[in-house]
Amino acid sequence: MTITPQFLDELRGRVPVSDVVGKRVKLAKKGREFTGLCPFHSEKTPSFTVNDDKAFYHCFGCGAHGDVIRFVTETEGLTFPEAVGKLAGMAGLTVPQATPQERRRAERAKSLQDACEAGLHFFRRRLDGPDGAAALAYLRRRGVKPETIDAFRLGWAPDGRSALKKALTGEGYSENMLIEAGLLIKPEDGGESYDRFRGRVIFPIADRRGRVIAFGGRALGDAQPKYLNSPETPLFSKGQLLYGLDKARQAVRDGPDGPDGKGGADVIVTEGYTDVIALHQAGFGGAVAPLGTALTESQIEELWRLTPEPVLCFDGDEAGRRAAGRALDRLLPRLVPGKTARFVFLPEGEDPDSFVSLSGPEAFGRLVERATSVSEALWRRVAGTQTIDSPEFAQNVRKNIEEVVGQMAERRTQTDYRRYLEDKLFWAGRTKKGGVEKKKLIEMKSDVGPEENISNRQKALLAALINHPQLIRGYGERLVEVDFLSADLAGLLTDAIDLHGRSEDMEAETLKEHLRRRGHDNLVESICSRKIYAVAPFADPAFDRASVEPGFADALRQLERSFARAELQQRLKRGLYRDDDAEYARLTEFASDIARQVTGTDEADTV
Ligand code: UTP
Ligand code: MN
Repeated sequence: MTITPQFLDELRGRVPVSDVVGKRVKLAKKGREFTGLCPFHSEKTPSFTVNDDKAFYHCFGCGAHGDVIRFVTETEGLTFPEAVGKLAGMAGLTVPQATPQERRRAERAKSLQDACEAGLHFFRRRLDGPDGAAALAYLRRRGVKPETIDAFRLGWAPDGRSALKKALTGEGYSENMLIEAGLLIKPEDGGESYDRFRGRVIFPIADRRGRVIAFGGRALGDAQPKYLNSPETPLFSKGQLLYGLDKARQAVRDGPDGPDGKGGADVIVTEGYTDVIALHQAGFGGAVAPLGTALTESQIEELWRLTPEPVLCFDGDEAGRRAAGRALDRLLPRLVPGKTARFVFLPEGEDPDSFVSLSGPEAFGRLVERATSVSEALWRRVAGTQTIDSPEFAQNVRKNIEEVVGQMAERRTQTDYRRYLEDKLFWAGRTKKGGVEKKKLIEMKSDVGPEENISNRQKALLAALINHPQLIRGYGERLVEVDFLSADLAGLLTDAIDLHGRSEDMEAETLKEHLRRRGHDNLVESICSRKIYAVAPFADPAFDRASVEPGFADALRQLERSFARAELQQRLKRGLYRDDDAEYARLTEFASDIARQVTGTDEADTV
């Protein structure tokens, strides 16, 4: 007996999933869905849902998912045809005998998952094709290695309205299925459907078992939006999944992880796709990211299924600090003994990707090791940015403690945190009397000074100039503009510019030789090193000459930006202490100047 897709569709339309599931599971109606205790794993609170409109069931606890036929095969141990026969009986339908033609068509019938898989292969092929060259160069410039491109199955969606549509309909996928899979967009006004992803680097999104079910696409240049994602589909629900989850699960199971090679990967939550990829490449296999939204409750639960203490990593800007605040809000009601989190704040203007690429995996590992605990983060929240010696300090903090603890659901958790926070408050008072901390700003912010990061970036840029002297002409002076922290590096740079000025087509080796003679031998040795090339590929003398410049220019822009931010940060701090409105106005002016100068846009509000 062969069964046609048309018949299966009719069957699914006739037999509501809730009727069949309802015989085994006690269901309660909630809006358009039913919920109940999942029959596929043991649980005390319902996370199993049935949606008759969409004709499927889904468990947010264990990920079980399927249609009415799947439910019967799974719960009754029947084969697919047996289940169909049984359901047809319930619906009063007879299973038609298929003609050989129909049989062949049925064999070709593809599922949504297959459509995504086919989309993936299409994007993968195009990345290796002639029009994928720009995308490959882009990835290369960002330091993504070929094996990482393969591991994350990155691809390229060519520019054009129907490249994918043509290819996949040619493989037998119906237009409707491609629309449902999120690969095509069907305009509301009834116009022709067209490719959703055009001219973008593709980041496939896999479910927890590694099957591709959606895509994110990044514009190559500055096109907006920067990232475009698949819409919600029957397979993909962005609030339920994390990017990189399948790999993180494996890394947690298999360890070892991190540059120290010790077992049991840390689960590290970042904000972006490229952060996950960069961290994996740096040896942090437990990196994941939400899919373009703030961390949801189910994502937090998902993390706790992997580890009792995920590390939440936030970018070193105002948006990052706000995101951390929101994450803490979501965590509070769910904290129980043995389920917590830690926070990492990156330096101003950095994300995990830029941070590992310039400061290296070890430095990132240290950040993770020193991550802020929930209790410390809570202390910073309740103490706020008040000055400890103000008269209302203790009173305010006590009020805040009650508010924060009130958000926790669990009795013992409340007691533990209240005790911890009151203790801190007590000691803060002592310190004040001892005169140690007269005035103090307490903030959730990075533990690394921006200087450490800046200095690594400078070394990389300098190494690139020495290995590729053709860059000196266009960029040497610009690099001088960014004040160097160390006189050594500044000296090396001016000498390099001077030598190059004497003979513009000097080769790298000659330049190095002259620099050594001028007494920079140790410095040249230490910055023109594997270690620097590993984090800044374009600095490598072997790096493809044509691609050096874009990489260099990106890194220089980032350096200028971090530098401007660090400087601004210091001035802001001084300004805040002075509490002087006129100075504050001057600072905001200065901030937007820097933003315009460095990025060509007005970004002052994110500083
Ligand atoms: P970021 O802008 O921080 O992305 O957004 P990123 O990964 O660092 O990007 P690069 O390094 O410039 O390539 C963080 C995440 O927010 C989502 C994406 O998931 C992204 O990874 N996002 C961002 C969108 O969905 N749409 C956007 O337009 C921007
Ligand atoms: Mn980034």
